[in-house]
Amino acid sequence: MGIDWLKQAVAQSEKLHPYIPGKPIAQMLRELGLSEQEVINQVASTVKLASNENPYGAPPKALKAIKQAACEVHRYPDGDCFELKQALAEKHDIDQENLLLGNGSNEVLELIIRTFAGAGDEVIYSQRGFIVYALATTAAGAKGVAVPEHDGFIHNLDAMLAAVNEHTKVVCIANPNNPTGALLSTQALQSFLHKLPPHIVVILDEAYVEYVEDMLEDSIHALNHAGLVVSRTFSKAYGLAGLRVGYAVADKDLLAVVNRFREPFNVNSMAQAAALAALDEHDWVMDKVAQCKAERVRLEQALSDLGCLAAPSFANFVLFQHQDSLSLVKKLEQEGVIVRPLAPYGMPDILRVSVGKVAENDAFLMALSKVLP
Ligand SMILES: Cc1ncc(COP(=O)(O)O)c(C=O)c1O
Repeated sequence: MGIDWLKQAVAQSEKLHPYIPGKPIAQMLRELGLSEQEVINQVASTVKLASNENPYGAPPKALKAIKQAACEVHRYPDGDCFELKQALAEKHDIDQENLLLGNGSNEVLELIIRTFAGAGDEVIYSQRGFIVYALATTAAGAKGVAVPEHDGFIHNLDAMLAAVNEHTKVVCIANPNNPTGALLSTQALQSFLHKLPPHIVVILDEAYVEYVEDMLEDSIHALNHAGLVVSRTFSKAYGLAGLRVGYAVADKDLLAVVNRFREPFNVNSMAQAAALAALDEHDWVMDKVAQCKAERVRLEQALSDLGCLAAPSFANFVLFQHQDSLSLVKKLEQEGVIVRPLAPYGMPDILRVSVGKVAENDAFLMALSKVLP
């Protein structure tokens, strides 16, 4: 008889479910029953708007840096990411010791939760917060406390404060939030942090901050809380999702403890080189952000005209509504467009579409008008 590996695994395994990512194009085409040759032929004409990536690609200098770094891949990367940290420290006007680099900001989030929360501890997040907070909390053996949002999906900071008790170790807040796109003001965050005991670690996840830079103060300097950890990523506006680079900015002694849990070479050499070069492409990045925001307005208007806009968004995606979201996803896939159903987030009638290039958004809107009853 086979061994029941779930029983052999640590107790919390029973409560864990694998993260469901946006469907890769080739996988979607295979699921439609296409042959491998047909998959190859159709990849280019399929539109993926399911993972909030930068549809314009990676910044040109980053692509060049990747090619150069490829010649050195027989060497281990710099485990301390010296040059990248140096550039980030300059960008944010902080010391290098205030930085923790990760294999995507996902790794940063997991490392921080794992460092501060274990059995008997609690981690607070919004019910419709980024799903990785719940997964990382459960994996760490800690208890997740999911706090319902206000109407309009806005984080309920008062309810989060009310959920704090002597077991609370970490609070996770994404701003803007994924998957809802909701935004908190700097003032709201300031007043929340002011009321929180200083030893509680607050992860302020700013994966989409580039899309709201003109609406917020710089949290790294404007917010004051001993346990504040601001996380950022190169995966969204910076166009490097496939390379996996993210980072956290926090108190150096706090990060020194997190660093004990970090594996030695967690950011690969191509990722380090590309991220460093991407930092030198600020204008390119902000130009793409501006195009994305203009397209988001257009998408929101079109979805509103179709009567299915779910909520306004401050990031590079938009939510729309349909009673039978899973069958709508299938129909859109048959039309060559991949979007994200939010059923795993407890929103069975809501879907998320990432803002693509003009032609991609046109393809989505055309497919949607065709398949909507
Ligand atoms: C709010 C939020 N935080 C963090 C991440 C993780 O991104 P990455 O690991 O690519 O940096 C994502 C990715 O979708 C996200 O939406």
